[in-house]
Amino acid sequence: MQTLYFDLRETKGQQKVVEDRINAAARILREGGLVGIPTETVYGLGANGLDPQAVKHIFEAKGRPQDNPLILHVTGPQWLPRYCEDIPPMAYVLARRFWPGPLTMILKRKPIVPDETTAGLDTVGVRCPDHPVTLAIIREAGVPIAAPSANTSGRPSCTTAQDVLEDMDGKIEGVVDGGPCTVGVESTILDLTCTPPRLLRPGGLPVEELERLIGPIEVDKAVVAPMKEGEQPRAPGMKYRHYAPVAPVTVITGSPDASAREIQKRAGKTAGIICFDEYAHLFSNMEVHTLGPSHDKLTQAQRVFDALRTFDNSSVTEIFAQCPDNRGLGLAVSNRLKKAAGFHVIQADSQRVVLGLTGGTGAGKTSALNAIRELGGMVIDCDAVYYEMLASRQDMRNDIATVFPGVFRSDGSLDRQKLGQEVFAKKDRLDQLNQIVYRYLIPELENRIREAKANLCAIDAINLLEAGVNVLCDRTIAVTAPTELRVRRIMARDGISEQYARMRISAQKPDEYYRTKCDCVLNNAAETSAAFQIEAKDFFERLIESIKEEKSHGTV
Ligand code: TXA
Ligand code: MG
Repeated sequence: MQTLYFDLRETKGQQKVVEDRINAAARILREGGLVGIPTETVYGLGANGLDPQAVKHIFEAKGRPQDNPLILHVTGPQWLPRYCEDIPPMAYVLARRFWPGPLTMILKRKPIVPDETTAGLDTVGVRCPDHPVTLAIIREAGVPIAAPSANTSGRPSCTTAQDVLEDMDGKIEGVVDGGPCTVGVESTILDLTCTPPRLLRPGGLPVEELERLIGPIEVDKAVVAPMKEGEQPRAPGMKYRHYAPVAPVTVITGSPDASAREIQKRAGKTAGIICFDEYAHLFSNMEVHTLGPSHDKLTQAQRVFDALRTFDNSSVTEIFAQCPDNRGLGLAVSNRLKKAAGFHVIQADSQRVVLGLTGGTGAGKTSALNAIRELGGMVIDCDAVYYEMLASRQDMRNDIATVFPGVFRSDGSLDRQKLGQEVFAKKDRLDQLNQIVYRYLIPELENRIREAKANLCAIDAINLLEAGVNVLCDRTIAVTAPTELRVRRIMARDGISEQYARMRISAQKPDEYYRTKCDCVLNNAAETSAAFQIEAKDFFERLIESIKEEKSHGTV
């Protein structure tokens, strides 16, 4: 079969040409053929999603396992009731906010959707892609387009029309070239048939953005760990070896510095390296594909599949990859890398344990930190670091002075009262200050941890989570206590009235906040701080043990 190529990249002012090509692609689809189509995430291999025969051809062309369902691509929420039933209102809320865009919703299907498309499930995935060409093709075809990623099954997904031709030339009727994909990783898949909604695949739309709109989302186990023998993930596709280049891949997690050093230690001459731009120079005698700057997750998403695919045209015998943290788009990038590695993941600095402690006043953080010191750990007090940086980091001081003119006196000292007045009553001003400080705080903490002699570090911060310091931590720990105990402790400690103690507590975030956001909870109901310190020491000993154990198995 000859695969037709429709170029729709630079077509400004060529209305007629564009229409002809879109119509031609739509006609192929309507008549039961297969067309590679551009989306913002990755290229799709499209067919009429209501035509069982056409859908069968998708599975043949990709070599895709029969039990792996396809996503229906539509032009907007108005198409939902045609193919889905029992649609929860939340689906419309999400569609209005995030469509067109990289969000696939799993909903109950209507009988009109054939078993071939859903692999026999009673649910169907639906998404509205954010690409004008493909939206025009779907509109013109007048049918929902079933489209998996356009790669041969098992290979990394395609982010250019050339990638699609590499895998599908001669096997499909056409490819539409709409330029390189702007997101680069597939859509985020959210199952709305359960409560709370469940994340089946992290993707181009960060979970944090979804949670901001609809509240907590449960993350399916298959997202972060390999499936065990006999286990069934909710998204059938998550169980297959995926995105994998021919050479075996090892992902090295940990801070960028630590993972780069670890790769240097492990990589031989014939190794291929996937790393952040800043570290490419360390591997100058090897084949390197860079992911972009370590802080730029969008670029990493755009490049991750290309990096993985390109190694198949080279003779490297093994591949080592650096990996971003799990925040924002990082979760999708790291998931793709880890799946490419069959979850063969090694944590750099596996002997070092970093704990983040947070919680309100009077809960017992001080005793908990003493327990860490007893275990030989180093404690980093973020407040102290902040004041040190205020005195010594000229770049941070400049940034603050730009946004808060006049808070530094002519002799360079900080007018704390003035800054305090600026931020205390005004939340947006406080946010501005925090944004500046957090930007400097994380690299500073990273340095201190790196230079620490101790193998155990604890970071003490009331704003641990808001500042994003959790990315540096193996575990975050909420230190909490019953309110009545906290009131009594603060009264005794600070010599204040009961009313004032209660006011101080209610001015802070409730325990519930820390409890739900942290990895673990250390609750302090002990009668004395000495008793609590003993309990805390025991708690940390066990926690550290399990973290080390986990790291040595290397599947975090
Ligand atoms: O960004 C994307 O979603 C791309 C572009 C082309 O739109 N498509 C894509 O499709 O990534 P595919 O087939 O490569 O991945 C679809 C994933 C598979 O893991 C599949 O198991 C899961 O979605 N899936 C599809 N329908 C499902 C359903 N009803 N229930 C659970 N999982 C489903
Ligand atoms: Mg795929």
